[in-house]
Amino acid sequence: MKKILITGALGQIGTELTEYLREQYGNDNVIASNRSKHGDDSFFEAGPFELLNVLDAKGLAEVCRKYGINHIIHLAAILSANAEKNPQTAYDINMNGTYNVLEVARELGIAVFTPSSIAAFGANTPADNTPQDTIQRPSTMYGVTKVAGELLCDYYFKKYGVDTRGVRFPGIISYAALPGGGTTDYAVHIYYEALKNKKYASYIGAGTYMDMMYMPDALKAVHDLMEANPDKLLHRNAFNVTAMSFEPEMLAAEIRKHIPEFILTYDVDPVRQAIADSWPNSLDDSAARAEWGWNPQYDLASMTKDMLEKLAIKLNIKE
Ligand code: SER
Repeated sequence: MKKILITGALGQIGTELTEYLREQYGNDNVIASNRSKHGDDSFFEAGPFELLNVLDAKGLAEVCRKYGINHIIHLAAILSANAEKNPQTAYDINMNGTYNVLEVARELGIAVFTPSSIAAFGANTPADNTPQDTIQRPSTMYGVTKVAGELLCDYYFKKYGVDTRGVRFPGIISYAALPGGGTTDYAVHIYYEALKNKKYASYIGAGTYMDMMYMPDALKAVHDLMEANPDKLLHRNAFNVTAMSFEPEMLAAEIRKHIPEFILTYDVDPVRQAIADSWPNSLDDSAARAEWGWNPQYDLASMTKDMLEKLAIKLNIKE
């Protein structure tokens, strides 16, 4: 029986992952945790919730003992753009948070899933069809902490036998909870603005390609890798996964198929543009496909259709 603790459960991915995993494993077997409490009452009524800061290793161990946790999904982290505003805090939360999770996992015999990111690559990484194993010299604090996290997870598996697993997520697009302070967030904001105002000023410039994925595929990635047969895993952590790669004009063109009046303009933010420029254009995810059957369902067209339908309902807007 799986007993799962999710850190950062009120973030963009955590909010939906908690619900998704509760459907798979039962409400009481998925414990949501976050350093602050906010959001809909229905989330907290659905299953257990603990206020938990990942910097509090003792508190983390107590929660794990209290519920008999055997899997931690560690999502609590500061995203790329916010990390550049406050690198010291980002270092503290991303590095020490991951370290605390791994240490508690080692002591209590817990498996760990931690996402890395396309941010684990840098400007001298091959940008197109970026290989699974390649140069990783990121130039952002977020990227530095993600590479270190990948290495630490590998280390804890090899040295202590902790069952660590993880993927390198691209930008995740979803309509439930907003992402906070990432570089790929424009690809979420654009849908809100398209529905509300029929126009959007992108802080990422024309022609800037980044990998992206619709949330249902991201949820499935976590579940499928957690359930994968370990004998088949040549890698453990940091699997490249992607579902699509696009630049803002392509996204706008797809939105216009549903909202013909939609206008895309640009107000490029140099900080986030520089981050995006240092990341790959498109990942090679063949290792994930071969080792645990990764096979995303949504492309740009099917995601855009679903996103606009669901978001219109959420925002109470008639398309
Ligand atoms: N979506 C994340 C970010 O933009 C990438 O990991 O920071």
